Amino acid sequence: MSNSPYAVEMYDIVIRFPGVLANDHVNFTLKRGEIHALLGENGAGKSTLMNVLSGLYKPNSGVIKVNGQVVTFHSPRDAIAKGIGMVHQHFMLVPTQTVTENILLGLREPRFFMNLPRYERKVQELQAQFGLRVDPKAKIWQISVGEQQRVEILKTLYRGANVLIFDEPTAVLAPQEINDLIATMRALVAQGKSIIFISHKLHEVEAVADRITVLRKGRVTAEGLPMAGRTRRELAQLMVGRDVVFTLEKEARTPGEVVLQVRDLKATNNKGAPALRGLSLEVRAGEIVGIAGVAGNGQSELAECITGLRACDGGAVSVAGIDLTNQPPLAAILAGVAHIPEDRTRVGSSPNLTITDNVIMKTYRGEPIGNGATIDETKAEEYARSLKQSYDILAPSVQTLARKLSGGNLQKVILAREITTNPKVIIAVQPTRGLDVGAVEAIQQHLLQQRMAGTAILLISEELEELMALSDRIAVIYDGQIMGIVDAGQADINEIGLMMTGTRQTALHAS
Ligand SMILES: Nc1ncnc2c1ncn2[C@@H]1O[C@H](COP(=O)(O)OP(=O)(O)OP(=O)(O)O)[C@@H](O)[C@H]1O
Ligand SMILES: [Mg+2]
Repeated sequence: MSNSPYAVEMYDIVIRFPGVLANDHVNFTLKRGEIHALLGENGAGKSTLMNVLSGLYKPNSGVIKVNGQVVTFHSPRDAIAKGIGMVHQHFMLVPTQTVTENILLGLREPRFFMNLPRYERKVQELQAQFGLRVDPKAKIWQISVGEQQRVEILKTLYRGANVLIFDEPTAVLAPQEINDLIATMRALVAQGKSIIFISHKLHEVEAVADRITVLRKGRVTAEGLPMAGRTRRELAQLMVGRDVVFTLEKEARTPGEVVLQVRDLKATNNKGAPALRGLSLEVRAGEIVGIAGVAGNGQSELAECITGLRACDGGAVSVAGIDLTNQPPLAAILAGVAHIPEDRTRVGSSPNLTITDNVIMKTYRGEPIGNGATIDETKAEEYARSLKQSYDILAPSVQTLARKLSGGNLQKVILAREITTNPKVIIAVQPTRGLDVGAVEAIQQHLLQQRMAGTAILLISEELEELMALSDRIAVIYDGQIMGIVDAGQADINEIGLMMTGTRQTALHAS
């Protein structure tokens, strides 16, 4: 050990991608035992900087020190050897293998298949030490996103990480899981670890960060400022360079006829257990109905049944009178259902296609882009360029591959594609998850515009604040059923909370 107070120092880091200066002479220091928040808009260069620190990218120039010593990383293995572990924004787990197998993956553990129970015990010890609950024998595909994240954390701890990099860990978590993660982070620093925390949710940053560094378009705009005494508004301003509206103006609107009708829907989840147990719901034209609930209570299955991605075992789904029960996704698209899915990279887009190909995915069949047989490339690109402009998508060109986009910009691509189909219904699942404060504002405005245009919107979100701000009515889901529906204007948070944990609205008002 050295006597440097810093676990990590990064000086003058430059990373150039074709057409983008992602890190422009960035300085960043991490003190031992601190939680340091790295903030910035979508595409500011946060993940890039952390990919440099975790040995994934080699910087064009710059110096990295760990515990005061200059280091050079040629691969993530080198970074791990120096005690640096990264929990990625997109998980890197093998779905068909177990939790323990994933934790051991890539390690040269002797005869690990023969000794699996021993390793499972080791994993359990780590879990107990840091409060990371997950069944070591479960297969990855069977466990929730929150649990998968715990596996990623366990993986880095198993490899002896002293510095943990969390790249937007809370973006995929439910409120209770966020509280658990915050507790885990505190336990980690209490036991001598140092943490870099990337988040767009400023209230979380307020709650846990000791210091902050802000990136803006690849440059540092605030370096290692103490967090104490700073306001959310100030942070937002440092990130986007302007004032951000925290309250949305929602115009009054009388909803029209029922567009989306879900009756007595039943479906099972990936594990074969009942996920929807007779769920009924209506959304009218020009209305936003929010679905509140703790993750894993049937929200994903509901969205999938409506959009044709999952078969249902009973009940019915219809849009504007057209029966969509157990119809393929194309039938839903043709009936006017737009889908902003939870999983942007696997369901929402094709990572290896360009922005152009991603935005025309639903419109290439008809005029003006296609004629049923061929696609007019020039028209397609023109169309993509106009969307790039109007949705403020940050990328070198419309030929940029989707997988090279930052999270927020990818979401804008999906939104642009879905909204321009003039949908009758939008199924929006966690539409602002992982987006920066400016992008959140933009996406929410787009949804409100769609509401004014008469689209029926089903908004599934774990952000109560967002549900309250956007919805006309809020339906609370629990164990595959709707516990009750309240007018967002008169919603009582406590009442919603009780319904989220399984109390029926009728029981609340019975006395
Ligand atoms: N592998 C890559 N190849 C080319 N360009 C890339 C690559 N990775 C990132 N970029 C570009 O570099 C810039 C910084 O991206 P980065 O992912 O670091 O942003 P971020 O701050 O993490 O954003 P977000 O909050 O959306 O995750 C963006 O313009 C992005 O498009
Ligand atoms: Mg990122």
